[in-house]
This record gives sequence, structure tokens and C-alpha cells, in this order.
Amino acid sequence: MMAVQTRLQPAELRDQRSLRDTLGRYPTGVVVITAAAADGPTGMTVNSFTSVSLDPPLIAFCPKRSSTTWAQIRRAGGFAVSLLRLHHEEIARRFAQWGADRFSGHEWWESPTGHPLLAEAIGWLDTTIESVSSAGDHEIVVARVLDWSAPGEGEPLVFFSGGYRALS
Ligand SMILES: Cc1cc2nc3c(=O)[nH]c(=O)nc-3n(C[C@H](O)[C@H](O)[C@H](O)COP(=O)(O)O)c2cc1C
Repeated sequence: MMAVQTRLQPAELRDQRSLRDTLGRYPTGVVVITAAAADGPTGMTVNSFTSVSLDPPLIAFCPKRSSTTWAQIRRAGGFAVSLLRLHHEEIARRFAQWGADRFSGHEWWESPTGHPLLAEAIGWLDTTIESVSSAGDHEIVVARVLDWSAPGEGEPLVFFSGGYRALS
């Protein structure tokens, strides 16, 4: 016999917290998006990063519309992406913290187009912004990949259910 289903509450009656919790059940990697902005290096932690296209090479991420860091990156016209390793949890926290000295304590290289790159990243990409579309309280940024490298083996940092995890 078929089990009686409980009717789900309409989406508009549900709270934002439960939406965030539900979306948090989708595990992602963690990257730091950085740029050589007009007033110095800038960057932010992002888990909305994704690959989009191989030919042409495109990637995307979704910054909050109100982010001052994103405004600086947008003005720079491009950015670098550093893919974080398992032991980079402290970097992930720092690049999400307001008022922190985000670049201190780690070695940074310069990408081919001049953006800061985390020397220890598990991989990196150098990009130029191709398009920015509005999407609610965020924007969708598509960028063309100009250069990239995955310098070595290693474990990535995983973000799941509001916390940092290892793959296994
Ligand atoms: C794991 C993690 C993932 C994040 N992903 C995003 C993201 O995809 N988009 C975004 O706008 N902010 C994201 N944030 C928050 C930004 O890192 C944070 O708001 C950052 O400080 C932006 O700088 P600003 O708000 O000072 O301009 C994330 C934070 C953490 C810790």
C-alpha cells in the first residue's frame, strides 16, 4: 500500500535559514578569488565557483551584489582563482572576515596578468571578466580563463553543511 505523503509547505512560507541549510547539503570546494585592484590587492573566499566551458575556457562564480571586495575585483576587469587545500581553512576564514589583513602570513605569487596567487594552491586560474548578470541579491560572473596550472597532488578543502571537511 502507498504511504500517505505529508504535503510540503509552500516555498514562500519557509524561512531563509532552512533554504541555506538545504543548499548547504551540497558539498563544494573552496577558492579565493583575488585581484590587483586600483587600491592594492583584494580578495574573497568563494564556494560558488564552477567550471562552465572548455572551448572557449570559461568559469563562473556568484558574488553578493553588496560586496565591496567584488566591486573592486569588477573594476580590475579580471581576477585569479586559487583552489584551496585541506590545510587552508584559516585562509578561507580570513578572506571572509571583514577588516582582516587578508594577505598576511602566506606566500603570494603574481599571476601572468598580475593578480595575486596563493603559492600553495592545489591549482590556480588567471581570468578576465567576460560577463556579469544580475541574479537576485547576487550576480553571476562569467570569466575567460587565460592561464592555469595544477602544480601538484594534494587534498582539497571541502565546504559542507556550514563547515570545512576533508574528502574522505
Ligand atoms: C566558505 C565560504 C564561501 C563563500 N562563498 C561566497 C560566494 O560564493 N559569494 C559571495 O559573495 N560570498 C561568499 N562568501 C562570503 C565572502 O567571502 C565574504 O562576504 C567576503 O568577506 C566578501 O567581502 P566583502 O563582503 O567584505 O566585500 C563565502 C564565505 C565563506 C567562508
